[in-house]
Amino acid sequence: MSEDLKNGLAGGGLEQEQAAELEQAVEQEQTEDQEQAAEPELTEEEKEAKRAEEIKQLRKLRIDNPNHFSFVKSVIAVVSGKGGVGKSLVTAMMSVLMKRKGYQVSIIDADFTGPSIPRMFGVKDKAIYNQFGIVPGKSESGIQMMSVNMILDNETDPVLWRGSVMNSALKQFWTEVVWRDVDFMFVDMPPGTGDVPLTVFQVLPIAGIIVVASPQELVSMVVSKAVKMAEIMDIPVIGIVENMSYLDCPDCGKQIKLFGESHIDEISSQYQLSTLGKIPIDTKLAALCDSGEIEKFEGNWLDKAAEVISKVWDFEKSPPLGQ
Ligand SMILES: Nc1ncnc2c1ncn2[C@@H]1O[C@H](COP(=O)(O)OP(=O)(O)OP(=O)(O)O)[C@@H](O)[C@H]1O
Ligand SMILES: [Mg+2]
Repeated sequence: MSEDLKNGLAGGGLEQEQAAELEQAVEQEQTEDQEQAAEPELTEEEKEAKRAEEIKQLRKLRIDNPNHFSFVKSVIAVVSGKGGVGKSLVTAMMSVLMKRKGYQVSIIDADFTGPSIPRMFGVKDKAIYNQFGIVPGKSESGIQMMSVNMILDNETDPVLWRGSVMNSALKQFWTEVVWRDVDFMFVDMPPGTGDVPLTVFQVLPIAGIIVVASPQELVSMVVSKAVKMAEIMDIPVIGIVENMSYLDCPDCGKQIKLFGESHIDEISSQYQLSTLGKIPIDTKLAALCDSGEIEKFEGNWLDKAAEVISKVWDFEKSPPLGQ
């Protein structure tokens, strides 16, 4: 019961009518307190399931239309259980492969506290506003992209924004950026299940999820969590990519399993998912990321993933979003 209400009742001198009203309010407060106390403490997993269910409902009511001049056919989120496993690298490589196949591709860098997409592509453009909306940056091969880096004065400035500010910036990446003629939009997700990743699922019409895992993680847990969340939200998991799977010895050519044997195939079949690819630790890849030249990467590790994605989305049947 609030102190104000207690004091009001004890103070006397109130008109009878007011006292009755107060008493009623106190009773209501007590009932609410009891109801709250009766609600059992939820486990982390139950809380996540509850949030996923809420998102599913919110997705049905989605009102965040894309910019009027946008034309996006399919949005794919790249997620992982923890940070540093290669989400941004996989997002970048998938975008490059789809572009090489002749599709129009764009990327939303939804990782506000660790934005890395423009750097990997060597894009230094700042976002500009024109009469149609915000114009995204463009890589050398024509991949469109939007990242918080492109709205900061200095890309090394830390982003010390509250969750709500990040959420509204993310919404603007969808509602105000002019995403022209996009076949595939990839979303580089921040790690974890905080506010921003949930907003991504709520605001963007995600058509499928790619899960990135590394062999040293408790992959089974990561995958089962992602699959459960996706099931509740009604979003299909396209498959799993294992990053840092092995290392090709530069001297003898032998595969070194730095983090032990991979369990990704067992886990994929356990959840009836496909393993989309296994990427080795490759110093050339790291160097290309650092020099902003990821578009020059060579390697067929994700060719199957690109094939699966281009087959899954039959654009003849599914009309573009934003129409
Ligand atoms: N297979 C690989 N071979 C070599 N370097 C790699 C490989 N995968 C990732 N890296 C390097 O490791 C670092 C982390 O990768 P990346 O940024 O893609 O991870 P992330 O999951 O997006 O991390 P974060 O959660 O911090 O956003 C990068 O500097 C990248 O160049
Ligand atoms: Mg990243």
